[in-house]
Amino acid sequence: MADMHDLANTDLSRSDVGLLDGLCSTRAIRRYRDEPIPEPMLRDILFAATRGPSGSNRQPFRFVVLTDSDRAQAAKKLIAEGAQKMWAFKRKNDQYDEGSGAKSDSPKARMANVMQTYVDNFATVPALILPCLVRYRDPTPMEGASLYPAVQNLLLAARALGYGGVITGFHGTVDEELKKLLDIPQEVFIGCTVTLGKPQGGHGPVRRRPMSELVFGDTWGVAADWAIDPPGTSYTKAGPPPAKQSA
Ligand SMILES: Cc1cc2nc3c(=O)[nH]c(=O)nc-3n(C[C@H](O)[C@H](O)[C@H](O)COP(=O)(O)O)c2cc1C
Repeated sequence: MADMHDLANTDLSRSDVGLLDGLCSTRAIRRYRDEPIPEPMLRDILFAATRGPSGSNRQPFRFVVLTDSDRAQAAKKLIAEGAQKMWAFKRKNDQYDEGSGAKSDSPKARMANVMQTYVDNFATVPALILPCLVRYRDPTPMEGASLYPAVQNLLLAARALGYGGVITGFHGTVDEELKKLLDIPQEVFIGCTVTLGKPQGGHGPVRRRPMSELVFGDTWGVAADWAIDPPGTSYTKAGPPPAKQSA
């Protein structure tokens, strides 16, 4: 039986994590040390990704892994430009510099700083991965379920090996150019981008809404009796409202 206290408080710098600890402590990592990911590590991380589930075990996922070749660097630069444009829009649209964001030590301002540094350095992230879906039928709302579990496997394997990463939608504005540059067929869906590297600096615990707000019994909106967070769980509210097209 898992120790519930540990589940809420796993030390992120540990790489010898158990599965359940890893699931509950994996954060979005956007700051990386300036060091490449050795190929055996990339192999293990991507192996775990390719073990992900998919509908009928069709395995429609493919992973384009960009490190330091000329072509990879050109693709990273292209996505970095998209990232900078998208973050500039989001920063304004979600009012990151207003309200508490005007105070440089507020969580909102700190998040804006992390994001700015992330996009400014995006072209030099140690590895940038494009998880893709080879479509075999018209798009359906469930098709991502044959790709994103593999992406989560990738992130959890990275965590297990002392690396970290984050899912982004930063390829969105440069999708067509990217496909041309990397010979990705038109019908292939680039599901997201994932940046990976050795985490730099400290990262706090995973913060989410209380379980009782998210897990219901047999009635929508009514928490299951057993939906009780472990002691020491850290909380946060949901992110910015979805109305203005946010990630
Ligand atoms: C569908 C999806 C899209 C995301 N898009 C972006 C993105 O474009 N840029 C980014 O920096 N993070 C992006 N993220 C990362 C989320 O912001 C992050 O997972 C969330 O804030 C929780 O972070 P935490 O686990 O560190 O608490 C995305 C995550 C998901 C699942």
